[in-house]
Amino acid sequence: MAYNKFNVFHWHIVDDPSFPFQSLTGKYWKGTFILTILLLSDVRKVISYARMRGIRVLPEFDSPGHTKSWGQGQPDLLTPCYTGNTPTGSVGPVNPALPSTYKFMWALLKEVTSVFPDSYIHLGGDEANKISDTNQSFWKSNPDIRTFMQKMGFGTDFAKLEGFYIENIVNITSALNKTSIVWQEVFDNHIQRSSLSVVEVWKAGCYLCKVRKVTKARLRVILAAPWYLDQPHNWAHYYNVWPLAFKGTEEQKKLVIGGEACMWGEYVDASNLAPRLWPRASATAERLWSDENQTNSLDKAFPRLNEFRCRLLRRGIQAEPLSVGHCKYEYEGI
Ligand SMILES: *[C@@H]1O[C@H](CO)[C@@H](O)[C@H](O)[C@H]1NC(C)=O
Ligand SMILES: *[C@@H]1O[C@H](CO)[C@@H](O)[C@H](O)[C@H]1NC(C)=O
Ligand SMILES: *[C@@H]1O[C@H](CO)[C@@H](O)[C@H](O)[C@H]1NC(C)=O
Ligand SMILES: *[C@@H]1O[C@H](CO)[C@@H](O)[C@H](O)[C@H]1NC(C)=O
Repeated sequence: MAYNKFNVFHWHIVDDPSFPFQSLTGKYWKGTFILTILLLSDVRKVISYARMRGIRVLPEFDSPGHTKSWGQGQPDLLTPCYTGNTPTGSVGPVNPALPSTYKFMWALLKEVTSVFPDSYIHLGGDEANKISDTNQSFWKSNPDIRTFMQKMGFGTDFAKLEGFYIENIVNITSALNKTSIVWQEVFDNHIQRSSLSVVEVWKAGCYLCKVRKVTKARLRVILAAPWYLDQPHNWAHYYNVWPLAFKGTEEQKKLVIGGEACMWGEYVDASNLAPRLWPRASATAERLWSDENQTNSLDKAFPRLNEFRCRLLRRGIQAEPLSVGHCKYEYEGI
């Protein structure tokens, strides 16, 4: 089936909590796997290693938030914060009011596309509403941004400013002949939807309602919401997901191009990554890669997955047990 071919594992890598209030509340802070790829040759190695195994590597350049480190090499890229008329010396998200921002983003994305051959780029755009909705807003504090908003006719609607920014980045991406993926917030914030291509639905709640809405707007969907492997659910929870079980036309269903198993890093590091992933990611994979009609029984899936877990162990991968039982080969790590 067409929809199940774009199955991916997403490691969300952000440099830091760009909005300090996130680290205060902890609520929106997703935690990080800080993967510092300094050398282009390393990136090429990763891409080539993956390619030999039939895996595509897609970059995510999440902005306008989560960009603190970018600003260190790029003066004026980030928005200076103010108290009244005085700059505080700290900086917020990307500054959407300056033409230089878009020049930089063009150059950055052009370079990215020269390194990552894939036709898709993830542009992020998550947690954008935190910028608009809070009084700790950096954009709001900055008089130049407020002037720009008046000039653009945005009034005091920061969602419009956000929309303007993302739309520009999406347009740059299409000019580079790449297809953009954005998090669902970008869709929710009524950013000119016709310029969007693929929307990633990641929020808990009625995620199928969202899938329905996005496909109704004739945009493609990658579904991540039910497959957060950092959650303490057993394999059956991840297996028992029906991505197409929403009311919609055949056309709409075809727009669901795949799913993602995701992992946020608060409770996961190198010490427990493998058992968190396996074999629960395998359950997710079977759901996404196999005909639903052949895979609608948990009872039938169990021995299959159990066997697969044993094979993983034999290859030295610390896949956790599904239930009581044993394998011919046990993990001998100690
Ligand atoms: C935000 O700031 C405005 C004006 O300073 C104030 O009236 C309002 O109560 C503040 N809202 C919150 C949620 O703090
Ligand atoms: C993005 O591209 C669309 C289609 O070409 C255009 O209508 C829109 O004005 C562009 N948006 C921005 C912010 O430049
Ligand atoms: C994008 O594709 C068009 C049409 O094939 C081509 O003219 C243009 O040079 C391409 N742009 C880039 C940046 O590769
Ligand atoms: C799955 O089974 C249903 C009901 O028998 C059928 O309508 C549908 O076409 C089947 N789907 C596939 C992909 O075979």
